[in-house]
Amino acid sequence: MEACPAQLTGAELLAWRRGQLQRGGAPADLDWLLDLAGGVGWQQLQALRLHPDQPVPLQRPLLELEQLWRQHLATKEPLQYLVGLCPWRDLELRVAPGVLIPRAETELLVELASQCCADRPPSRWADLGTGSGCLAVALARLWPGSSGFAVDVSAEALAQASPNLAAHGLGSQVECRQGSWWAPLADQAGGLDLVVANPPYIPTDVWQELEPVVREHEPALALDGGPDGLDAIRAIAAGARLHLAPGGWLLLEHHHDQSAAVLALLEQACLTNPCARPDLEGKLRFAAARTAV
Ligand SMILES: C[S@@+](CC[C@H](N)C(=O)[O-])C[C@H]1O[C@@H](n2cnc3c(N)ncnc32)[C@H](O)[C@@H]1O
Repeated sequence: MEACPAQLTGAELLAWRRGQLQRGGAPADLDWLLDLAGGVGWQQLQALRLHPDQPVPLQRPLLELEQLWRQHLATKEPLQYLVGLCPWRDLELRVAPGVLIPRAETELLVELASQCCADRPPSRWADLGTGSGCLAVALARLWPGSSGFAVDVSAEALAQASPNLAAHGLGSQVECRQGSWWAPLADQAGGLDLVVANPPYIPTDVWQELEPVVREHEPALALDGGPDGLDAIRAIAAGARLHLAPGGWLLLEHHHDQSAAVLALLEQACLTNPCARPDLEGKLRFAAARTAV
């Protein structure tokens, strides 16, 4: 959809917003739409309540925003897919059906990578199951002198990751490779200083109960981790020792109830000092381990 400037008063916009919420949906979602597609941020929206006569420039006509909102309510399609964008960390990433919408908690995987590699920045790293390429973009920006690999089995995912990397000027620093987990990295055996992965880890029966906005629209390939949710993590742990350089790190995101099982898999894979890390709510959602130096 093309941007088309439009202008109205604060009072008119707030009245429109009330009208849309009467159709249904969550205020936070509508405000997200106004921000990302309309260009009216949350703070600006609050200021309009104090200054309702102020003119509000809109990036798109209200009619277009209304169509997007109606479609979201009717089909439960995520607004990120309808708008084609998702904010994540300080980035704005392209997303489309077929690629997972990056989640806020995954931002912590970047912080964990930064902490683990503080003493020895990685020169070569990989992001397994890159999806939109969110982690690959963030890691490449963290270590501009490094080179990275963004791996995904899904062509649809790489069709978003590749332009996201290019849009941030990282097309030559990060190579996209298609294939299953370690298979596209056979030529990197023993050479990766860091591997991060946010793999599909939701047990199938839990995935089947997810909200329609997720289950019916986001790819099962990105979410469904098999009967116990650990199919992908088993495969990643099993190949880690072969592909990591001495002292190289493997960092994983996992489901809230998998910490002990994931640490056991990392130990079985002969990685040293597997440890668990919490998310912002204190739930153990991440695991880190490394090869012997
Ligand atoms: C939970 S999503 C994570 C996407 C992205 N890294 C993020 O954090 O938003 C898991 C990703 O793993 C990919 N995937 C699933 N099975 C795979 C496999 N066997 N090999 C490589 N990637 C796979 C999916 O296509 C999906 O993009």
